[in-house]
Amino acid sequence: MKKFLQLISILMAIALVIAFVPAAPFSSMADETAPAPDRADVRLGWIDENQGPGVARWVDENGNISKQPGKAKAESQSNSTQETQEEKAGESSQGSGTSQSATGESGQAETQAETQPETQPATQPETQPAETGRQIDPALPMVALTFDDGPYAPVGNQIMDSLAQYGGKATFFVVGSRAAAYQTELKRMVAEGHEIGNHTFDHKYLTKLNGAQIQSEINRCNDAVFAASGVRPALVRLPGGLKNHTVLANVNAPIIMWSIDTLDWKTRNTSKTVNAVLSHVKDGDIVLMHELYSQTGAAALEIIPKLAAAGYQMVTVSEMAQYRGGVVPSGVYSQFHR
Ligand code: NI
Repeated sequence: MKKFLQLISILMAIALVIAFVPAAPFSSMADETAPAPDRADVRLGWIDENQGPGVARWVDENGNISKQPGKAKAESQSNSTQETQEEKAGESSQGSGTSQSATGESGQAETQAETQPETQPATQPETQPAETGRQIDPALPMVALTFDDGPYAPVGNQIMDSLAQYGGKATFFVVGSRAAAYQTELKRMVAEGHEIGNHTFDHKYLTKLNGAQIQSEINRCNDAVFAASGVRPALVRLPGGLKNHTVLANVNAPIIMWSIDTLDWKTRNTSKTVNAVLSHVKDGDIVLMHELYSQTGAAALEIIPKLAAAGYQMVTVSEMAQYRGGVVPSGVYSQFHR
């Protein structure tokens, strides 16, 4: 009985403590321990809500997220986690471009041309890059530097400045929805002999779309680039590199993959990006980088002079294809090795 009374008094003491401790400290503790979003510290920079290469969003000085600088308004996050995983899967399968290239060869392309005459042909005279005084020696090594997900003038102009200094050209696979905002940059690309490729209108993963939707993504990007620059892209790079039979059947242009994946979007590290290129590069490589990141711009400023010093001709993808067997609509190409 004595023990029972002791137990009762202990329980009452506990109850009193609980009753008189104010609730406020608990709620403030909850605030402090709530995990901060990863992007919380990003201001005046690009974030990638997919945590992978894709359409990045701009964060202004107040933390507002928008598609592009100067259009600050919070936008709903339309890209899902599911897409993130698929994007990563697509990026990690980059080596498969070669093995799949045989599936999209010319037989399919001919069918495509007959059944869908309204689709913009891949090779129109107006799509050819300006070739005024351009000298390429087919006997010497060449490499195609490619930059996805732009245009984005702060980095793109840096890249073009360096290429101008060393006589190099690059290929910019741009997102059509961004084209109108960067007309000046796109016109500079054309004027200086760089190639503008098609990276779809708004970076949708084409494996999730039907045939008509795929064609719309490609055609709207071509139209937007043409409206902004006067040139219609001849080549397509698929968002995430993701492809299936429907994609191959409905992209009526050569599909360009890559042989060197710098993972610049993931590391955001200049020296890692530089090393990824310089430690692997060989004649006929296609190098994948992304135009949105300042670290990629800084890397390009190191890569370009070193490639030049090593004797590489920095050429556009179409230029390299021209000397290395050519391309056909719906063909898939990840390199142009000899
Ligand atoms: Ni992309």
